[in-house]
Amino acid sequence: MFGPIGIAPSILSADFMNLERDIRMIEEGGADWIHVDVMDGHFVPNLTIGVPHVKALKRMAKLPLDVHLMISNPERQVPWFIAAGADMVTVHIEATQDPIALLESIKEAGCKAAIAINPPTPIEAIRDCIPHADMVLVMSVNPGFSGQSFMPECIQKVAQVSAWAKQDGVDSIIEVDGGIGVKTAALMTSQGADLLVCGNACFGAPDPKQAISDIRKAGESF
Ligand code: DX5
Ligand code: ZN
Repeated sequence: MFGPIGIAPSILSADFMNLERDIRMIEEGGADWIHVDVMDGHFVPNLTIGVPHVKALKRMAKLPLDVHLMISNPERQVPWFIAAGADMVTVHIEATQDPIALLESIKEAGCKAAIAINPPTPIEAIRDCIPHADMVLVMSVNPGFSGQSFMPECIQKVAQVSAWAKQDGVDSIIEVDGGIGVKTAALMTSQGADLLVCGNACFGAPDPKQAISDIRKAGESF
């Protein structure tokens, strides 16, 4: 799907008035996925974009869409995001009562399914989801905003997920999201993370294409 370390720039930090330009830029820069942050103003304080935007992105973008749902009651909206063209749908363990059934329903619909976990939630909460998920997303900031500082206490969680995936004999992707950049990438990849979300570190850089390559290199050098 991607090399040893994949990069998923978060368009939350892109210029929404020039989104097509910014997406072409990261596509040319060698990004692997487009990370789409959906926030509902309820599960997280911020409100961002929704189904119509994913539908429009799907028509325009060449890269697959990694749709991170930071929403309450994800069960209701997941089918709409899949129909809109999401290639990966991530739901939060904190937002759903029956995560395994939800992950299975996403996969049955032909989409990749991921479970995300917030910094304050003990990692044991997602233990049983691991054999059911194509990807586990370990949040390294409290979700809601881009540009926050990386929380080092999340490093250990990546190591734990990696160990459980090995135990279960599954080849899950481990994605990390929040404050990831050149300085923090290797802290996570050295523990088993293989897909790095970067918002500010990519779109806030003077040269986002160079930033993608620098972050990937940093993630591969441990
Ligand atoms: C945080 C979002 C992230 C965010 C990442 O709530 O889920 O994807 O946009 O931004 P940076 O990389 O700037 O922390
Ligand atoms: Zn995200």
